[in-house]
Amino acid sequence: MFPIHQTKSAAHARRIRMPETQSFPDKRLAHPAGRAPRIFADTAVIDDIEPLFRAGIITGVTTNPSLMKKAGATSWDEARDISRRILKLMEPYPVSLELTEVGQREMIAQAEQLGQWGDNAVIKVPVGGYIALSSQADPFTGLKVIRALWELDIRTNATLIFNSTQALWAAQAGATFVSPFLGRLADYAYQNDHPERPPGNSLYWIEDHKNTAGDQHLFNSEYVASGGPRKDIGIRLIQEIAVIFGNYDIHSEILAASIRNFAQITECLLAGADILTVPADILRQIPHHPLTEAGMKTFYSDSQVFTK
Ligand code: G3P
Repeated sequence: MFPIHQTKSAAHARRIRMPETQSFPDKRLAHPAGRAPRIFADTAVIDDIEPLFRAGIITGVTTNPSLMKKAGATSWDEARDISRRILKLMEPYPVSLELTEVGQREMIAQAEQLGQWGDNAVIKVPVGGYIALSSQADPFTGLKVIRALWELDIRTNATLIFNSTQALWAAQAGATFVSPFLGRLADYAYQNDHPERPPGNSLYWIEDHKNTAGDQHLFNSEYVASGGPRKDIGIRLIQEIAVIFGNYDIHSEILAASIRNFAQITECLLAGADILTVPADILRQIPHHPLTEAGMKTFYSDSQVFTK
């Protein structure tokens, strides 16, 4: 578990400068959790989303092409129909829809199309990775698209973020939300790190020069999610972004994504995430605890004395 003493007040100082997440202007009784973090569902399955929304658990949804495929979409038309149903159900709460085009002009045109499906659509833009698809691509495509959409007053969610500088650049480009993938980062470090080197070494050690014996020397850039146990690397990424955004009063919301288990919900909150997007099967665990269940059984059985 991410140690609570490491969380300090950076997140708190930032949160009190952020806008309220829920306000009820007609109520005289102020809501006690007006600045509470928001929980989104990370799924495109409407049957998963609807009960969570009706129960007041979620106030947003995030999707991506893999989640659309998992929800059964086998064509653009089907993806559009699924997206429209989610947008309508969730209105006015945000629903992130990811661009599938990879050229700057086409992405902007597709963003405008997605925006026509619902006012609550947020355009999810991969922050990078364009070179992985074509060596000729402009590596800054995602950041340029985020900037262009900001100029058009279109909300964006910068996705596939794995270090805090990507998050900062996305925010500078004008991203409304930034989505660090904490679970994938931790999975990668666990599968690929050299166990005797610092956490994240498979991602951040750069083989850039040789030592006097002519061996490859590894240089740790140490600027990302460093300085703690390997198991906390994903959560430390969230914390780093929260501290950096706090330092510079950046209001892009930190949307913690790629959450793998229930404990990470608490950890993300301690680390200063503004929003958590969580798979439906994890969200369904919220009311459960073995002691809650045991207590409920006792209270219910004792209450039978009074109701007879
Ligand atoms: O919202 C991004 C998220 O869906 C990625 O999660 O589980 O595929 O790493 P995952």
